[in-house]
Amino acid sequence: MGRARDALVAGLLLLARKRKRRLWPGQRERIVPPASRNPGSELLATLLLLAAAGCAVAFIVVYVLDRLPAHTQLLGLSLGLACLFVAAALIVTAKRLIVTEELEDDYPAEEHVDEQETVLQLVADSGFSRRRFFKLALGAAGGALALAVLTPIASLGPAIDLARFYATPWRRGRRLVDEHGRPYRASDVEEDTLYTAFAEGSDKEQLGSSLVLVRLPKDRLKLPAGNSGYAADGIVAYSKICTHAGCAISLYRAPLFQPDEPTPALVCPCHYSTFDPASGGRVTFGPAGRKLPMLPLTIAPNGELRAAGNFDSAVGPSWWGVRTKRPTS
Ligand code: FES
Repeated sequence: MGRARDALVAGLLLLARKRKRRLWPGQRERIVPPASRNPGSELLATLLLLAAAGCAVAFIVVYVLDRLPAHTQLLGLSLGLACLFVAAALIVTAKRLIVTEELEDDYPAEEHVDEQETVLQLVADSGFSRRRFFKLALGAAGGALALAVLTPIASLGPAIDLARFYATPWRRGRRLVDEHGRPYRASDVEEDTLYTAFAEGSDKEQLGSSLVLVRLPKDRLKLPAGNSGYAADGIVAYSKICTHAGCAISLYRAPLFQPDEPTPALVCPCHYSTFDPASGGRVTFGPAGRKLPMLPLTIAPNGELRAAGNFDSAVGPSWWGVRTKRPTS
């Protein structure tokens, strides 16, 4: 009796197994019920992804056109909307397009590969009728967003054709002139006053042309060894371009009530980077990451101020690798 029952159960199991395997060649067994078609939701998810891609591209365009009014707000708006559209597309996909099943028991422990296959089949069994179109939209949104996130890397600085950033008009013997082209004489430069000077005959817009000029009491100068001999009768000259982000140095803090006030300082009005003119342009405050480039001076026999060479370091805002080269004339 017992044997007959066992045989019956075994037969039934065998039958069930055989029936389970009776699939068309290439046909897989479903693990979730077929999904009902939902073209409206598919279209909505696809449109949301395309909108996300459009916003990400808009971010890149706004980033490149950096003179637009409300530039920062437009950057935030475009990137924020791109993320919002992607989130909405994923919600629509998860809620309306991916088929789900409810299991009473936990999944049995499976190897990683099998689990992966299960997930892939779940997606395959989902009710997408325009799968290709959706995949394209997903790729466009992902690609455009990745590109938008990587775009700010371009602001780390120039990568090609760096030579022009190191070129300055300064060379030994070049005269220092004011904005009207009049040569500066050493006797023109007084203490507690900031002067702007240019290389004679140069394009005043050129990054390396403009200087700030101040006169300090000679006993106050504490120039580092590499800059000894750069001052001429207490007059020192530095690049006018801030080494933080390239604003023009236009403030001079000349202490009036020593010793209560700090030492003289060249100050950038943009973010208040402060440089010490007595010690070779050292940064004493603010976000600048390197000193102001210093120009060696000499006084010609007729009293005119002239350059005694080129700057001691690269001029302009700092970028990746700015310290690797010396300026050229
Ligand atoms: S540009 Fe000068 S402190 Fe930022």
